[in-house]
Amino acid sequence: MTALLYFTSLLLVCRGVSSIDVMRYASVQYSILYYEFVDSSGTFYPSYGYPLDDEWKSTTATNGWTQGFFPGVLWNIVAYNATRESLKRAIDVTTPTAAFANNTGTHDVGFVIMSGFGNAYRLLKLSEYLDVIVTAARSLATRYSPIVRCIRSWNSPTGYLVIIDNMMNLELLFEASNQTKDQTLYNIAWQHANRTMYEHFRSDNSSYHVVEYNETDGSVVRKYTAQGYADWSTWSRGQSWAVHGFTIAYRYTKYQPFLDKAIGAANYVLTHLPSSTDLVTYWDYDAPHNSTLAYQPRDTSAAAIFASALVELSQYAPTCNLKDSFLANAKAIVDQLSTPQYLIYGDKDYKLPALLTNGTMGPYPKSPYDVSLAYGDYYLTQAIVRLAKL
Ligand SMILES: *[C@@H]1O[C@H](CO)[C@@H](O)[C@H](O)[C@H]1NC(C)=O
Ligand SMILES: *[C@@H]1O[C@H](CO)[C@@H](O)[C@H](O)[C@H]1NC(C)=O
Ligand SMILES: *[C@@H]1O[C@H](CO)[C@@H](O)[C@H](O)[C@H]1NC(C)=O
Ligand SMILES: *[C@@H]1O[C@H](CO)[C@@H](O)[C@H](O)[C@H]1NC(C)=O
Ligand SMILES: *[C@@H]1O[C@H](CO)[C@@H](O)[C@H](O)[C@H]1NC(C)=O
Ligand SMILES: *[C@@H]1O[C@H](CO)[C@@H](O)[C@H](O)[C@H]1NC(C)=O
Ligand SMILES: *[C@@H]1O[C@H](CO)[C@@H](O)[C@H](O)[C@H]1NC(C)=O
Ligand SMILES: *[C@@H]1O[C@H](CO)[C@@H](O)[C@H](O)[C@H]1NC(C)=O
Repeated sequence: MTALLYFTSLLLVCRGVSSIDVMRYASVQYSILYYEFVDSSGTFYPSYGYPLDDEWKSTTATNGWTQGFFPGVLWNIVAYNATRESLKRAIDVTTPTAAFANNTGTHDVGFVIMSGFGNAYRLLKLSEYLDVIVTAARSLATRYSPIVRCIRSWNSPTGYLVIIDNMMNLELLFEASNQTKDQTLYNIAWQHANRTMYEHFRSDNSSYHVVEYNETDGSVVRKYTAQGYADWSTWSRGQSWAVHGFTIAYRYTKYQPFLDKAIGAANYVLTHLPSSTDLVTYWDYDAPHNSTLAYQPRDTSAAAIFASALVELSQYAPTCNLKDSFLANAKAIVDQLSTPQYLIYGDKDYKLPALLTNGTMGPYPKSPYDVSLAYGDYYLTQAIVRLAKL
């Protein structure tokens, strides 16, 4: 621990520029978390944390929905610069999450398994990792309703609830189908994306957070928000999930309307950022955030998820101009996030072993804000790896 802090201060002295070598810093910060994981006998999975605390709020390997992002950051570190030690750490932290693959009680099985085992399989191609992915995909598929033509997100006795975040869980089904040639898994994911494309967007391509369907006849009951500012507003992280999710859906299906929707949702973000030079979104695009009104926090996780999506989306862009613009924006967002303004780094009193702060869970102010979020760190490091591999 002392040696790590010393190493951190060396980095500070040696680098005069404002943009920080985040992957190098990630391996410092996440070594601390890895040793906390070891000390806890494998039960510590960081979920979110206050920058002035020295401890994250944590879950276990089979609890909650964020536990995949800790292994995910470690896999991003491996993808960037594999060493014997970084590989061992990633495997150690991923392994205990396998049991979650049998969980049919939540749609988040997609987030959990793809961030850990999904990356592990992509990088190492071990069949035992594929087995976990396929098991998890079958678990997720049990939540599909052929009447609603969607996977159930939240369990509720009163309605069939689908949230925009659920687009991210489709990667599990698409990947399992791609590997096993099980067309049922593909069809479920395709149907979910297709219905979501029609129901979750307004005409300007902003998104609703929650759509409640009638399970008996599949009709829409209502559209509202759970984590955003208002039912009519656009929750920033939800919009980022939309861009990222439709980009993934296009990756596997090559279905043009999915690409068009990803581009439409991305254009909404790009035209609603704070300014042309300030690219880190507030927590909701419609939350009033000018000086005459009360404080509104940013959501760095929404910015990171969007930047990572934009790198992949740029590769599918139909014109060179659009491709260049998406890539330039992705780089600019990553650069803005990679400064002491948003990183747990530098001379503030920040103590948490983390990368980003100023994440907002939503809704503000009821839920934690100006905090580190496991998914903020995961998608920031994913964006950096994607940019480095272009
Ligand atoms: C990769 O990690 C090794 C071991 O920590 C380090 O010596 C090397 O400089 C790193 N390479 C890059 C490109 O960061
Ligand atoms: C899921 O449950 C089955 C049946 O109990 C078991 O054989 C399998 O090992 C479990 N899978 C994982 C990844 O834990
Ligand atoms: C896609 O969804 C729309 C709207 O719900 C529906 O009309 C259409 O039939 C769906 N397409 C397929 C191939 O199921
Ligand atoms: C759901 O649809 C069924 C059949 O059309 C109808 O009887 C029921 O009232 C609907 N429920 C709600 C909450 O709209
Ligand atoms: C799916 O599988 C095929 C080989 O069966 C492969 O060529 C393709 O790249 C895979 N991935 C995607 C995203 O479709
Ligand atoms: C919204 O996205 C659709 C594609 O789904 C596109 O045709 C449309 O032009 C976009 N609308 C705006 C206002 O950008
Ligand atoms: C601040 O935002 C409110 C609500 O959106 C608006 O009514 C007001 O005109 C804005 N004031 C300034 C100075 O932009
Ligand atoms: C980031 O969070 C800190 C509190 O931890 C706050 O003082 C600061 O204003 C926030 N930064 C932005 C740009 O909102």
